[in-house]
Amino acid sequence: MRVGVLTGGGDCPGLNAVIRAIVRKGVQEYGYDFVGFRDGWRGPLEGDSVRLDIPAVRGILPRGGTVLGSSRTNPLKVEGGIRRIKDNLAKQEIDALVTIGGEDTLGVAARLSDEYGVPCVGVPKTIDNDLSATDYTFGFDTAVGIATEAIDRLHTTAESHMRVLVCEVMGRHAGWIALHSGLAGGANVILIPEQRFDLDQVCAWITSRFRASYAPIVVVAEGAMPKDGEMVLKDGSLDSFGHVRLSGVGEWLAKEIEKRTGKEARTTVLGHIQRGGTPSAFDRWLATRFGLHAVDCVHDGDFGTMVALRGTDIVRVPIAEATARLKTVDPALYTEAGVFFG
Ligand code: F6P
Repeated sequence: MRVGVLTGGGDCPGLNAVIRAIVRKGVQEYGYDFVGFRDGWRGPLEGDSVRLDIPAVRGILPRGGTVLGSSRTNPLKVEGGIRRIKDNLAKQEIDALVTIGGEDTLGVAARLSDEYGVPCVGVPKTIDNDLSATDYTFGFDTAVGIATEAIDRLHTTAESHMRVLVCEVMGRHAGWIALHSGLAGGANVILIPEQRFDLDQVCAWITSRFRASYAPIVVVAEGAMPKDGEMVLKDGSLDSFGHVRLSGVGEWLAKEIEKRTGKEARTTVLGHIQRGGTPSAFDRWLATRFGLHAVDCVHDGDFGTMVALRGTDIVRVPIAEATARLKTVDPALYTEAGVFFG
């Protein structure tokens, strides 16, 4: 049996842990050969691959990023893309393909598997934790840890200068990182894309925080939007997802806060720091278990399937179930956090 592995979409701490677990179990227990495709779907599209054996995965468990490289190439948008993938897989005698990715990468895997008979197994990844069908994705815990540490640090400098500090975290459509790091870091305002915010209310919370002689910390997800009026955030260009590029909610917010409250405000945008570096122990654990179970799916011929975490169990679900809709923050969870606002 010859198995292909690829990592697609934005990188995420834990990808190498998945690759290592797949190769270790596949070689040791099932005697498989592995081929790593480079840069997500670009690899099988162009027949660009490397040999993946035990020496190739030695020492990669704690390493961030992905040894296979990644891209947002979508073969469904490339002329003749599916035929080229099928040809290249046949040329390299690939019997199964393990695809490690988020919504876009897995969406392609679901279609290739369900409509074109390419035997794919999916492994969910995103720091945003917004994939349905799994309680958590690896990368999320690491991102929340990095954001929480940043918020802790922002508290002390905010207090020294009695300023507002706005911390912008990732999360274009879902506010999981903002909510979890905001709660863990003791933020005084948390703003998420799922609920449009009222700027007057935000300023009232900030003012009340100052009245109690504390400096407020605002955690805002990059996709959060105010209730009324369009923010001047969109420069009109499209990002690699084909979405209108968002930039600067944090900066915008700090300026508005200064204008409306008369208090000094500063912004920190965490950006890709949240995606870089070594995975947390939880993410290594989850990624490793996902890898072990993914190779079992291959062994069982269970294609079109994705591994997922439910409670502490790893289960199998149709890949399409994970990509059908985004998992956004439950309004009740956001309301629960509201007790700490202001
Ligand atoms: O999906 C993960 C993610 O990190 C989002 O939170 C963020 O909006 C996006 O990727 C950034 O993408 P890129 O690295 O292509 O700029």
